[in-house]
Amino acid sequence: MQQPCQPWVDVDRYIADRLIGDDPPFDRGHLPPHEVSPPQGALLELLARLTGARSILEIGTLAGYSTLWLARALPPDGRIVTLEASPEHADVARRNLAGLPVELIVRPALETLPTLTGPFDLVFIDADKRSNADYLRWALALSRPGTLIVADNVVRGGAVADAAGDDPRVVGVRAFFDAVAAEPRLRATAIQTVGAKGYDGFALLLVDG
Ligand code: DHB
Ligand code: MG
Repeated sequence: MQQPCQPWVDVDRYIADRLIGDDPPFDRGHLPPHEVSPPQGALLELLARLTGARSILEIGTLAGYSTLWLARALPPDGRIVTLEASPEHADVARRNLAGLPVELIVRPALETLPTLTGPFDLVFIDADKRSNADYLRWALALSRPGTLIVADNVVRGGAVADAAGDDPRVVGVRAFFDAVAAEPRLRATAIQTVGAKGYDGFALLLVDG
């Protein structure tokens, strides 16, 4: 995304210092710094708690940072299924997620999704952006009325509003918006964010019958 400006970074640090307490212990290894920020991670935990989620599907594990936050919301009988295409990413995530009730499946998500059994109470879409509309279709297929679907990186430094953009990640996010708009079962919004991760945003979709 667009590089963060210093006040966004400072305020993210302030929020984390005042409100968030201990960050889950986490090692990124040599992977790209694409994980959510601590305030965003805490939001994922809150959303999972608000929905009373016991089964969570995450599409795109990377190093498992958001998975760690989501796991904090789980009741004792809860579970997370997290999908990661890259064996290198998965090796880092496996170490971060050791001992948690997390099933990490290492294969392109579009190959794994048809094999899963739902419904999931919460789905977090945070993988390669070009497949976002397909991920949304599978999230719906694996949902029930009341499932919350959260999608990361739907603003991309503002590029999402540029219909002429040819970055395949932006094209993928715009296809995702089109699919949401065409789906009568979803009540949806998207929120722009600034912070230590730059200018981006997330979408919240409630499956509504
Ligand atoms: C990218 C992907 C992410 O999930 C993220 O949070 C930030 C950036 C990317 O592919 O550029
Ligand atoms: Mg992301």
